[in-house]
Amino acid sequence: MTATKGLEGIVATTSSISSIVDGVLTYRGIDIDELAEHATFEEVVYLLWFGKLPTKSELNQLQQDLNAHSIIPDALIEQLQMYPKDANSMAVLRTAVSSLALYDQESGDMSTESNVRKAIKLQAQIPTIIAAYARIRNGEKPIASKGYPSLAANFLYMMTGEEPDPVAIKALDKALVLHADHELNASTFAARVTVATLTDIYSGITSAIGTLKGPLHGGANEAVMAMLEEIDSIDNVEAYINNKLSNKEKIMGFGHRVYKNGDPRAKHLQAMSHELGVMKGNMKWYDMSIKIEAMITGEKGLKPNVDFYSASVYTALGIPRDLFTPIFAFSRTSGWTAHILEQYENNRLIRPRAEYTGLSNQHYISIEDR
Ligand code: ACO
Repeated sequence: MTATKGLEGIVATTSSISSIVDGVLTYRGIDIDELAEHATFEEVVYLLWFGKLPTKSELNQLQQDLNAHSIIPDALIEQLQMYPKDANSMAVLRTAVSSLALYDQESGDMSTESNVRKAIKLQAQIPTIIAAYARIRNGEKPIASKGYPSLAANFLYMMTGEEPDPVAIKALDKALVLHADHELNASTFAARVTVATLTDIYSGITSAIGTLKGPLHGGANEAVMAMLEEIDSIDNVEAYINNKLSNKEKIMGFGHRVYKNGDPRAKHLQAMSHELGVMKGNMKWYDMSIKIEAMITGEKGLKPNVDFYSASVYTALGIPRDLFTPIFAFSRTSGWTAHILEQYENNRLIRPRAEYTGLSNQHYISIEDR
């Protein structure tokens, strides 16, 4: 038995949800470029869960269901009010989602109908939790959704209390489409491993959120913005990046385990970052990002991944830095739940082996003799 570090190249399951073949990402066989161009996030959610694009009435029904389930329990709001105001926002989301199970009468029901209902509830409630916490920690009252037919619009409204700008809705919606699913990424794998024990969907999503939090995965988008803020000016980019590279430090938002010739999602986010920068009259973060990309691609041959330009996109939308990864979770909930439903459909416990590299032929030594 020989282990492959990081399971690189190991095919761990079959799945019909999304694929990466020759650098092309598809959801249910549709190229992400087409979906980014034409689809709304709700259409993508439906596509991931049910394997086809919705008809008008199916989409209306889904929008209604998402709106009907967007309210979170009062007890959870009280809990959010008790969390430390400076808590890590992904830790807050992970804890809050775990708590949701306590207030759902059907959390332990393993029927498919119930699991689909819980997927809808999670997809509807996660943005509410993020927006509610964003307000509570600023001493503001959480606001209920306005019932727009779009999760992006409702989220922006619940976060700010203001009528969302159509350009901002469109930009966030596209970002949600681009982050919705990504084959067997670390957090999706964690979700599948968790539910393959036949535990409940809330446990699967809690595992996934904890996994997404790390800076080698979803946490990279926040780390990119922290880096841009630290660099602060285009004049400092060269010295900063050279210093990082000579210390052999990783530059967040670059590289990918699967894509070696570039992440197909990055170009859409780059274009959005440019467009929003022009619109807001502030090209600082975009221009710095372009310069960093030129250096990293030139010196290391590494291309930006989905997280790199998300940072400047979310900043242009006025979203606080520590909500970037929770927003990734808001989008990826669609993919996680699709994978969980698929895992339940054709389940077998996921239990690989380890290559043992420890000592052998050891003996117990009594405590007096150690
Ligand atoms: N900056 C500098 N060097 C890098 C970077 C980077 N961002 N990424 C990889 N490298 C280098 C490594 O130092 C290593 O060099 P070495 O062989 O000289 O030691 C080589 O490239 C291979 O790197 P690994 O970490 O082994 O590559 P792996 O496939 O395991 O990692 C990963 C992929 C984790 C994404 C990596 O590229 C990375 O850490 N990037 C920064 C974090 C990031 O942006 N994560 C988000 C990924 S996308 C997502 O999850 C949504």
